[in-house]
Amino acid sequence: RLRTAVLISGRGSNMAALLSAARDPAYPAEIALVLSNRADAAGLERAAAAGVPTAVVESRGFRGDRAGFEAAMQAELARHGIGLVALAGFMRVLTPAFVEHWAGRLVNIHPSLLPAFPGLETHERALAAGVRLHGCTVHLVSAGVDEGPILAQAAVPVLPGDTPAALAARVLAEEHRIYPAALAWLAAGRVRVEAGRALVTEAAAPAASLI
Ligand code: GAR
Repeated sequence: RLRTAVLISGRGSNMAALLSAARDPAYPAEIALVLSNRADAAGLERAAAAGVPTAVVESRGFRGDRAGFEAAMQAELARHGIGLVALAGFMRVLTPAFVEHWAGRLVNIHPSLLPAFPGLETHERALAAGVRLHGCTVHLVSAGVDEGPILAQAAVPVLPGDTPAALAARVLAEEHRIYPAALAWLAAGRVRVEAGRALVTEAAAPAASLI
């Protein structure tokens, strides 16, 4: 199983969804580390309670020294033998050097149907725009913010009277469904990128079925 780190900054509900999927020994990724850039991230306690190793690299301690911050993160990832990185509510923009280092092995979940509404406050902006469909996207990370080949998306309706919180909760339920699925495709080596688009191939036949 591919040793995977989940990077968080807060609540960690997507992290919890990934942990719960990875509890199945047949799941192709093992969550070997939960790394937070904030010591007060609630997700850290959830991870520790689930018996998963945790680490904190406080971005605040680096005062704009992004290279130093990322070097400290890289050291933690290396120390835990990580081969795949999943951003789950990780609220720092990564440098092109970091993204390049992890190219094809760095995945993110974003709470909108990209390329609509990159950035922050996606639910507020979806409501302000009057869209009838909203949702979430799992994508490989490339250098631009909230850009990169799309692995999975799920759409939800925007309902009359929706508040940002109500819409966020409807989207979040879909995030918890599609993120474990998309991470599994990547960890199983089923994702190819061609001309900037991700192709998900069929699962390899299990050895037993070939006999
Ligand atoms: C999720 O909705 C995630 O898509 C979003 O933050 C939330 C984190 O919740 N990510 C971003 O906005 C990335 N820019 P969680 O900590 O409970 O998974």
